[in-house]
Amino acid sequence: MPVLRSIRERFAREQPFAGVRIGCSLHVTAETANLVRALVAGGAQVALCAPNPLSTQDDVVDALGDEGADVYARYGQDPAAGLAAVIATEPQLTMDDGADLVSALAERELIGATEETTTGVIRARSLDLRFPLVALNEGRAKDLFDNRYGTGQSTLDGILRATNVLLAGRRVVVIGYGRCGRGVADRAAGAGASVIVCEVEPLAALEAAMDGYEVMPALKAAAQGDLFVTATGNRDALRGEHFERMRDGAILCNAGHFDVEIDKAALKGERREARPQVEEIRMADGRRLYLLAEGRVVNLAAAEGHPAAVMDVIFACQALAAEALVKQPDWFTPGVQPLPERIDGEVARLKLDSMGIELDELTDAQRAYLSSWR
Ligand SMILES: NC(=O)c1ccc[n+]([C@@H]2O[C@H](COP(=O)([O-])OP(=O)(O)OC[C@H]3O[C@@H](n4cnc5c(N)ncnc54)[C@H](O)[C@@H]3O)[C@@H](O)[C@H]2O)c1
Repeated sequence: MPVLRSIRERFAREQPFAGVRIGCSLHVTAETANLVRALVAGGAQVALCAPNPLSTQDDVVDALGDEGADVYARYGQDPAAGLAAVIATEPQLTMDDGADLVSALAERELIGATEETTTGVIRARSLDLRFPLVALNEGRAKDLFDNRYGTGQSTLDGILRATNVLLAGRRVVVIGYGRCGRGVADRAAGAGASVIVCEVEPLAALEAAMDGYEVMPALKAAAQGDLFVTATGNRDALRGEHFERMRDGAILCNAGHFDVEIDKAALKGERREARPQVEEIRMADGRRLYLLAEGRVVNLAAAEGHPAAVMDVIFACQALAAEALVKQPDWFTPGVQPLPERIDGEVARLKLDSMGIELDELTDAQRAYLSSWR
């Protein structure tokens, strides 16, 4: 995670968090550990708990203890106890994945808070906050890396691990051409599949057509596809009327957050496990459909979620947002707000540096020219 490493090295020199108590409720994984190490290097006293006990990696808990953070989490342990322990440390700044901490501390005068997920942001908006809360998923860097490149690659990774199918020559139907769907379509096309996109929004459909994909209603695509991926954030993107038209051997999976995108109740037939994470449903007419990971988010259920390189960028946004909340309070107002654009730009610059990619710079004459328009 070279971006976080460079931030950690700067934090170690500049000590932006000297004496600041930071409370975190984040999945306790190796990637989170790198974020915590950066905060500790910057002088923070960090207390960490887990929003979900099943994502906690106990070896990471032990290692972080050695790095000087207080970790109140164990695999399988009730998250409530850990949350209470972190609250008892009286954090001045919080970092959440799901808004558990900030909801408990909403009445206090915090320096600020950060929130990782959409669900957490929705929760936070219902609070009457007297301090700023930075919604990290409303930033361009996170969007690009998480939804597009992270989901794009890891969704195909999940499909391939579960099925071991050859993508070249297959017809892959992507339902929903938003940030995630674009990533999935790109990667499937790159692997040699011919991609069909189904959309309900005219601009998204137009973009898919201009990107070179066939665009058609899902009912028509149902009869043509070999592999279906839903990424709509909506329910019943694939339902009974689609299943009726699908070909024998069609594979169905979901990259959206909730397992509502494929209407599982309408998938009626004799069921058996064909392979781990692959359920075969033999329909009354003898056709077989294959449902991956029970229709749950396939890149997490059948693969490892986002690669560390994606989390590097996302957590770099977290670290720099926390620093700005402490050092640049005038950039913020009370309540929920997006990641400041300059932080997005800084993270992109650090990522480019880590890749050894150089940019051009405007000349003085160019800068003057661009700002001369009224
Ligand atoms: N798997 C992951 O790692 C991961 C990562 C980020 C987001 N997500 C989830 O993926 C889902 C999509 O996220 P996004 O950021 O791409 O959202 P988005 O809003 O950018 O895109 C969704 C698209 O689906 C289209 N759509 C909605 N209903 C449809 C329907 N019935 N048929 C066809 N198209 C339809 C919309 O018009 C939109 O263009 C969400 O549930 C999100 O939480 C998953």
